Amino acid sequence: MIANLLAVFLLVVPLHSQNDSATVEYYVQLITDLYKNGETYKWPTDAYEYYSDGKRQQYGSYDFVVIGAGAGGSVAASRLSEIENWNVLVLEAGGYGDNATDVPNLYTPIEFSHYNWAYNSTPQKTCCLGARNQLCLYPRGKGVGGTTLINGLVYARGYKSDFDKWEKFANDKRWGYDSVLHYFKKSENFVHNDKQAPYDPSYHGTGGYLRVEYHQPNSPQLNAFLEANKELGFDIVDYNANKLGASQSQINTINGRRLDGAKAFLRPVRQRKNLEILTHSYVKKILTDKGVAKAVEFSHKGKNYFVEVKKEVILAAGAIGTSQILMWSGIGPKQHLEDLKIDVVADLPVGTALRDNTLFYGLTVHTNYTEPVRPLRDYVEEYLNGVGPFAIANNNAGVGFYESSYTKGTGIPDIELEFIAANATSSLSARSLELTEETYEDLWKNINVPQSFTVYVVSLHDVSKGTIRLKSRNPYEYPMIDTNLLSDSGNKDIRVLYEGVQLVLKLLKTKAFRAMNATLQGGPLRACRKHEYLSEDYWYCAIRQVSSNLYHPLGTCPMGTDPKKGAVVDSKLKVFGFRNLRVADASVFPFPLAGHPNAPTVMVGEQLGDLVKLTYNKKL
Ligand SMILES: Cc1cc2nc3c(=O)[nH]c(=O)nc-3n(C[C@H](O)[C@H](O)[C@H](O)COP(=O)(O)OP(=O)(O)OC[C@H]3O[C@@H](n4cnc5c(N)ncnc54)[C@H](O)[C@@H]3O)c2cc1C
Ligand SMILES: *[C@@H]1O[C@H](CO)[C@@H](O)[C@H](O)[C@H]1NC(C)=O
Ligand SMILES: *[C@@H]1O[C@H](CO)[C@@H](O)[C@H](O)[C@H]1NC(C)=O
Ligand SMILES: *[C@@H]1O[C@H](CO)[C@@H](O)[C@H](O)[C@H]1NC(C)=O
Ligand SMILES: *[C@@H]1O[C@H](CO)[C@@H](O)[C@H](O)[C@H]1NC(C)=O
Ligand SMILES: *[C@@H]1O[C@H](CO)[C@@H](O)[C@H](O)[C@H]1NC(C)=O
Repeated sequence: MIANLLAVFLLVVPLHSQNDSATVEYYVQLITDLYKNGETYKWPTDAYEYYSDGKRQQYGSYDFVVIGAGAGGSVAASRLSEIENWNVLVLEAGGYGDNATDVPNLYTPIEFSHYNWAYNSTPQKTCCLGARNQLCLYPRGKGVGGTTLINGLVYARGYKSDFDKWEKFANDKRWGYDSVLHYFKKSENFVHNDKQAPYDPSYHGTGGYLRVEYHQPNSPQLNAFLEANKELGFDIVDYNANKLGASQSQINTINGRRLDGAKAFLRPVRQRKNLEILTHSYVKKILTDKGVAKAVEFSHKGKNYFVEVKKEVILAAGAIGTSQILMWSGIGPKQHLEDLKIDVVADLPVGTALRDNTLFYGLTVHTNYTEPVRPLRDYVEEYLNGVGPFAIANNNAGVGFYESSYTKGTGIPDIELEFIAANATSSLSARSLELTEETYEDLWKNINVPQSFTVYVVSLHDVSKGTIRLKSRNPYEYPMIDTNLLSDSGNKDIRVLYEGVQLVLKLLKTKAFRAMNATLQGGPLRACRKHEYLSEDYWYCAIRQVSSNLYHPLGTCPMGTDPKKGAVVDSKLKVFGFRNLRVADASVFPFPLAGHPNAPTVMVGEQLGDLVKLTYNKKL
């Protein structure tokens, strides 16, 4: 037993550090180049790089075709290929991750690379007003690993109350808390590497593919955030164990390197002969006949292909990609498809209830603590040893989950704070949000970044709904995404953010933060000058200016019992009306959770594996 554990340990932990000068120089150059490239990189505005024409050639025939190798698709393909006599083809538009995607702190510059689809929304009226043309940006990962190649790595499952509600939507115990907890634990390999940080072992797994660990060491600013929480009476808790409070973030890294979904779930099984991953493959259509998916059409290196499907198609192209592919295939809102002259195969509310969490990023705080500025070389050496600022995404260091006045006393968190220590902002962050010159000047221009921190305020259970629609029937056009955040008639979503702002202002008044002379910075915004600075009206105005979707799009093919009430998939993840077409990504969430979507998307992928195995009478 001990010997076995040791063997596993040796496989995953590098025996010697790579802290030799050639490696250090290589990373210094890599990082410098990526930042430099980020200053001028232009995001694509369509998918014509995948253009192909000519006759379709057949690309064989497979039991299962998984579309998209992101968070959900990687898990689905990994679990399906456990059955040796099934063959599985994964079609992924992008290529593999690399040394740059591995460095968590390259999170912002990596958005300016071919790993990002880089969508944006239609002009908004209620959110993102401080961005150029009132657009919300929609970074989405492209490649084997999907959005986990570029995300913030925070592992936050959501709370028991979310899954109790999900169970009701699905009318199926499979989605209730006891059942999903089993799947969370099954995927997880929790490594309690920071004994100071909270850990409730009864809620965590240790034998799974997805490593979860704590970043080290805590910055002095993060420690102040945790202390400030304690002063206000909040606990320091393992937030993945259904408790309210704050903590260091649990993150998906392995010794400081990004553990993207494909590295976690596909790399360990890549030698399987029944699993094929075809990169640079852009899916354009699922061919169906009387409720049966027959084949998938895709372009690959300038040529058109179709692949025959013997058992099932698993759609895992993400909340945006999955909606597009369904609509290109004639599965979507009837009127919309007819307007675009797409033959209607099934009238379903695809893309009709886009949901997200709303982020207010306007609270930057100046302190008299100065994060030491050291040569890049030092940070690289630390990173190669698995620690330091480059081993965490954007210094996304701490989180807290709190009740709003809407949930007071219920134990259901509605507000999240994300604590981002020094160096939270840069000229690239402004570029990554496409802030107007004015917003940038008012918010960040005069900030001394090594002395500042940022607290993101997040509304967790947004009720506002947006849409995803096609511009045309042309599969190389980007979709129209109407974010529509903070648009609910009761103003609940913005009210929750306002309460979150007040919570942060209270935290700043604690001894812990006063000891570093924490002072709110970034404002007043000229766009809100008609309101008294810091008044309630001022904050409502500021929130609409510097808010954004938290890059958590979901719910575009929601799970439920009745398409007439908005559902697109049933509790077995099957698209209504189809025998062998399932969805296994964040599209199926019925509503936003009090967490971050990657962990629950992995859970959906795990469920998919078992649901399919059950369908074909395989052992679980
Ligand atoms: C900047 C950023 C930070 C984030 N931070 C966090 C965080 O800290 N924690 C967290 O939990 N979540 C975070 N998220 C969100 C989280 O990563 C995603 O919600 C999650 O990965 C979604 O998984 P998915 O399987 O639904 O889709 P994805 O992981 O996006 O996978 C979809 C895959 O399908 C492929 N694809 C799409 N269309 C096609 C097509 N036509 N043909 C072939 N392939 C296609 C894509 O290339 C992609 O690889 C963040 C997201 C972003 C953008
Ligand atoms: C990635 O970095 C390692 C050193 O950490 C190096 O050996 C390898 O060649 C690099 N890969 C590429 C593609 O440059
Ligand atoms: C990396 O190696 C150099 C030279 O051997 C050493 O001086 C330095 O302390 C090491 N850095 C870390 C973070 O281990
Ligand atoms: C923090 O920002 C300063 C100033 O922009 C920069 O010199 C330093 O390298 C940054 N530190 C990290 C860890 O990125
Ligand atoms: C920071 O400010 C606090 C409160 O004003 C003060 O007590 C402390 O000495 C200051 N620390 C530094 C390093 O300037
Ligand atoms: C605290 O910070 C404010 C704003 O930066 C500054 O004006 C003030 O002098 C500082 N006070 C101390 C005691 O450092």
